[in-house]
Amino acid sequence: MQKLSIHGGVPLSGEVRVAGAKNAALPILTAALLSASPLRIANVPNLNDVRTMIQLLQRMGVKARRDQRGIDLDASSVTDPVAPYELVKTMRASVLALGPLTARFGEARVSLPGGCAIGERPVDLHIKGLEAMGAEVSIDAGYIHARAKRLKGARVFMDTVTVTGTENLMMAASLAEGETVLENAAREPEVVDLARCLIAMGARIRGHGTDEIVVEGVERLNGADYTVMADRIEAGTFLAAAAATGGSVTLTHAPVESLDAIIDKLREAGAEVKTSGDTVRLAMPRRARSVSVRTAPYPGFPTDMQAQFIALNCVAEGTAFVTETIFENRFMHVQELRRLGARIEIEGNTAFVHGVDRLAGARVMATDLRASASLVIAGLVAEGETVIDRIYHLDRGYERIEERLGRLGARIARVS
Ligand code: UD1
Repeated sequence: MQKLSIHGGVPLSGEVRVAGAKNAALPILTAALLSASPLRIANVPNLNDVRTMIQLLQRMGVKARRDQRGIDLDASSVTDPVAPYELVKTMRASVLALGPLTARFGEARVSLPGGCAIGERPVDLHIKGLEAMGAEVSIDAGYIHARAKRLKGARVFMDTVTVTGTENLMMAASLAEGETVLENAAREPEVVDLARCLIAMGARIRGHGTDEIVVEGVERLNGADYTVMADRIEAGTFLAAAAATGGSVTLTHAPVESLDAIIDKLREAGAEVKTSGDTVRLAMPRRARSVSVRTAPYPGFPTDMQAQFIALNCVAEGTAFVTETIFENRFMHVQELRRLGARIEIEGNTAFVHGVDRLAGARVMATDLRASASLVIAGLVAEGETVIDRIYHLDRGYERIEERLGRLGARIARVS
């Protein structure tokens, strides 16, 4: 199995281009199911999760072709509207096929996602929304089975803000008869990016980016040519890594307008951050000060950056409180960071991170995608060698990370 070896202690320095957003690309790929005409998608990151999603679509009968510029998807002849267990268990986002399949083909069978490394993560709100639109939904042999002759517009209130839930229902509503109102909708930039793609396909959507999304269903959607937004979590991870190592980096093609919560906290930590157009420059001239964060739905501080900020706080001056409000079991990285010498206590959903003067390399294990990113950051700071096991978690969300960090001066290599 592949591992990542890092010899820490080098301040990151240089320029890096931010890749396309994984969490925007995944729903946009499933949007191809909504139309019989081809969808061309550019700026799709080359990641394991993206490959899994393409495999899933191909199993349903979607033709997919990838070239230098992007991916062409043709869902004119879908033969099997099923998302099987083997694929859903490796990637929960497969549940995004549920809404489009039900809306366009009147039927979907999607394996019920189980628990995952970061918590239980139910999909009850996806199901409740489809039922409100008139689908008959049953759970049978571990599969969600949804049927509807044609979905009907409805008012759907989601009592928890759910990103993929909002996306699933927005896609379903695009082909429903009449108007759907999604209340307490997720405002994440990736939801907005999906809405823009759907609008390019002919959907009638307004209110995306607010907590009330209104969708006027249409009979059919067209193909389109769409470019996926840049990845704010990847951008945030590079910035946190630069700050933790006392470095100085420039991000290009960055989704600057969606980085406010992250940049705000980096400034609080003492970083000098300047933005202009789609470029972000960060310099960390001193040891970071500890920064407390509390995760929240957008525009709050993203749960997908919580682990990376714990890593930054591990070597900062002072004590930080990091509170996780979205997922109930998202501190798996803490015990691995302790192996590098971090001083962290957990009480309920808050981690108390006491900054230490130095971390020391050790062998650690990645437990989920963002946990693995925090281990990379800690490894970049630690003295001596850090070896990270199970980096397939990292490959789900970061493209050629060792090459790109290597170009910023990091001593990092993939080893077998
Ligand atoms: C998405 C992101 C993930 C991010 C998360 C929160 C993708 C592919 N993944 O995941 O990277 O960490 O948003 O920003 O975009 N919930 C319910 N019932 C439901 C659905 C969700 O109770 O039917 C709860 C979840 O258990 C969780 C909270 O809602 O506590 C938010 O989860 P949700 O926004 O749905 O996360 P995902 O869309 O799975």
